[in-house]
Order: sequence, then structure tokens, then C-alpha cells
Amino acid sequence: MHVFVELCYLVASILFVVGLKRLQSPATARGGNALAALAMFIAIAATLLDTQILSWTGILIGVVLGGGIGAFAARTVQMTDMPQMVGIFNGFGGGASAVVAIAEFLGTGGSAGVSTAGGTIVLGTLIGGVTFSGSFIAFGKLQGLLSGNPLTFPGQNLVNGLLFLAVLVSGVLALGVTTVDPLTAFYALIALSLVLGISVVVPIGGADMPVVVSLLNSYSGLAASAAGFVIGNMVLIISGALVGASGLILTVLMCKGMNRSLANVAFGAFGGTATTASGSIEERPVKRADAEMVAAELGYVNSVVVVPGYGLAVAQAQHELRKVGDLLEERGVDVKYGIHPVAGRMPGHMNVLLAEADVPYDRLFDLDEINDDFGNTDAVLIVGANDVVNPAAREEGSAIAGMPILDVDRARRTIVMKRSLSPGFAGIDNELFYMDKNLMFFGDAKESMAELVRELRELA
Ligand code: TAP
Repeated sequence: MHVFVELCYLVASILFVVGLKRLQSPATARGGNALAALAMFIAIAATLLDTQILSWTGILIGVVLGGGIGAFAARTVQMTDMPQMVGIFNGFGGGASAVVAIAEFLGTGGSAGVSTAGGTIVLGTLIGGVTFSGSFIAFGKLQGLLSGNPLTFPGQNLVNGLLFLAVLVSGVLALGVTTVDPLTAFYALIALSLVLGISVVVPIGGADMPVVVSLLNSYSGLAASAAGFVIGNMVLIISGALVGASGLILTVLMCKGMNRSLANVAFGAFGGTATTASGSIEERPVKRADAEMVAAELGYVNSVVVVPGYGLAVAQAQHELRKVGDLLEERGVDVKYGIHPVAGRMPGHMNVLLAEADVPYDRLFDLDEINDDFGNTDAVLIVGANDVVNPAAREEGSAIAGMPILDVDRARRTIVMKRSLSPGFAGIDNELFYMDKNLMFFGDAKESMAELVRELRELA
């Protein structure tokens, strides 16, 4: 039986790696997800067979209840609410790992001692506790249950540093290296880890929250890995390490997309106050256009680049956008889609939306691939995007200074579809809206896009 279980773990581990690899492209992502789910099923079934720790009734109740809640949440969650759902998952993952470590420690009666087991128990409790409380604060902020603004006070980083030190000290004391009661020290470790999770997430605000969720995702993997060491479970060690590493890579990629360092996200308290880079938003004149004008602008040119953003996701306008793309192509227009790595609110947000509407993958171009093309592009249609096309990023002192942007202002004509002149997530005004070459097509992206479809159909 033991060999069979280890073999199952090996198969599950390989499937996790292959599944993760397939998530790299939208074309293979669904299959990759299914493979990873199958791997998880094999790992759980093998573990239950191996240890028989519960009665089958208990297992069945757990599967139906947990699976039911998971399936319901996955079916009903809005695409724009995905970051907070991932946040909750991380929280439960971290919490579960901490509970495993705590149970093991209590099982030893507090005498884990200075050993590999003792060290991994302390580590699992620390990382799991921080992930648990930090993730629920992140969820509360993203869901609007708590203020999304950074909560800061003078000397905060010092307080957090001291708190971290106290966590480490209580962890060492829990190993029984002094006369201090290890059990008392261990309880202090649990409490302090939970407080640390809260205190490191509260100073982080608005636009940085998805980065934090991704980092907590990485922590939840590390916590699972530590739990794997605690109970000597190979598949938990491997899958935890995979989550830890991929979460960290994603975090770094998101920081790169926003031109921020991880330290700046963690300690910079960015994303709270809205500032305007250039004058009053309301008073400056812009050129307005309606659907008929936009259809005429797009229908008689050679090349159009579409730049989707968060507003496209909110309006769920991807299917109408696909129709616009098809109609333009029927007219012989070369249509491409320029995708910014942090457009929307989560990694790959725009790719997923456009895939949902069956926009061909070979029409999607990354920032690096498309930026050189804008100089030769006749018109750019910007749908619910703002920060990712804001030229303020090229100015020193702006809140998004240095963030790589899509250079849409180099095209001959730009058309922005959004409801108002309101700023995007970074809270700053966008000079593009006031440029001579720009037209503002105001309205909800889905409704405006439907009007545009009608007008394009009527074009000669
Ligand atoms: P944003 O800069 O957030 O702008 C979105 C725009 O959509 C808003 O200005 C809004 O203007 C418009 N909008 C909202 N609802 C709309 C609707 N129903 N119809 C039409 N327009 C609508 O979006 P972006 O350009 O995609 O930039 C993303 C931002 O999020 C960046 O600052 C990025 O750093 C941040 N961020 C992203 C990620 C990831 S991983 N994607 C992670 C962390 C942070 P109106 O209100 O005037 O309509």
C-alpha cells in the first residue's frame, strides 16, 4: 500500500508541474487547470487511503460540503471579484497549514525541541498564521468591507519590524531553548503571527492589493510546504513549493508591469490618495464623438489597435468588442489587440476576457510586441483603459512615473471609450483625453460598443 501511495504522489506531482506549464497560454490553460484538479484528486484520494484518518461518512460530508461551496463560489464570482476570491483561498490555505503545524506541536505536548520537526512546526505556524490573517484583511479591503486606502501611522515600519522580531523570539522559545514554558511561547507565536499578518497588510492600499494577494498566495504555498515537512508528506512539500515559487514569480512580474519594487509595494503605502497630474479634470475641453463618428473613423482606415482595460471587464463588453473587430476585418482593416500586463485588476485579465469572446490569440500582442507599431497605426480604440495608456507615466513625479505604458499617443488617431473623464485606479488625470488627435466616446462600454456595431453595419 505504501509504494502505491508514493506512486500516486509521484503521478500527482508530475501532473501539477505539467498543469502549471499549460497555464502559460490561454489556448492550453483550461486543460492545464483540469490536469491540476485531477492531480489534487489523486493526492487527496491517496492520502485518505493511506492514513484512513477519518470515517468514510466524514470524508463524504467534507467532499460534498467543501466541493459544493467551491463550485458555487467559482460559478457565481464576477471576473472583477477574482482577486478577493483568490485572497480567501490563500487565507484558508494558510490557516489549514497553520492548523496542521499547531496540531503536531500540541501532539508533542510542547516538547518538539530543537529539531527539524520543531523548526518546520514553528515555520508552518508563522507563515500560515501571517497568510491567514493577512489574506482576510486583503479580502476585506478588496470587497469594500474595510477601507481600501492604506492605513498608516508614523513609525509603522519600525513597529512591524519589532513585531517580526517578537514572532521570531517566541518561535525560538517555543523550541524549549530556555526555561520559558514552550507551550506559552507557542501560543504567543500563534497570536503574534496573526497580528503581524494584519499589520503588514493594512498599510497597503488600492492598486497594490492584487500584488499583495499574489504575494500571500506565494506564502500560502510556503506554509503548505512547511506543513508537508511537518507531517512528512511528499506531495504537500512539492505542491506547496510550486505554489510558493509561481506566486513569487507572478508577484515580481506584476511589480515589473507597474515599475515598482516589491519593497516599495510592501512599505510604500501607495494607492490611497488620488492626485491629479495636470489641472482640473472637469474644466478642460475635450473632443467628443458619437457612435456614427467613431464608425466612420475606424471603418475607412487600414490599421486599428484595440486597447482593452478594466472598464471592458466591468461592462462585460468583450462579446460586442469581438463583433466590432469582425466587422472591421470584413472591411479589410488590420485589427490587433494591445495587451498591457497590468490592464484590468489581475494578471491575464484581458487575455481571459478576450478568450471568452473567442478573439483569436494570434491577434493579441504584448506591450513589448505592439509598442513599436503605434507610430504606423491609423487609429487606436481604447476601451475602458486609463492608467495603462496614461502619458503621465513618462513624467517624473507622477504617481505612475516609470510604469511602462502602451504608447497609443504615437498613433494618428486615438478614441477613448469610457463613461466620464474620471481617473483610473492610480487616481491621476490623463493628458491623452485632451490631445488634439483624441476623441472621447462617452458611455458604458457595452452600450457604446453595441451602438458602434449598428453603425459599422450601416457603413457603405
Ligand atoms: P484603470 O486605469 O483602472 O481605468 C479603468 C477605466 O475604466 C476608468 O477610468 C473608468 O472610467 C472606466 N470604466 C469603468 N467602468 C466602465 C464602464 N462600465 N464602461 C466604460 N468604461 C468604464 O484601468 P487600466 O487602464 O486597465 O489599468 C489598470 C490599473 O490597475 C493600473 O493602475 C494597474 O497598475 C492597476 N493594477 C492592475 C493589476 C493587474 S495584475 N491587472 C494589479 C494591481 C493593480 P469611467 O469611470 O469614466 O468610466
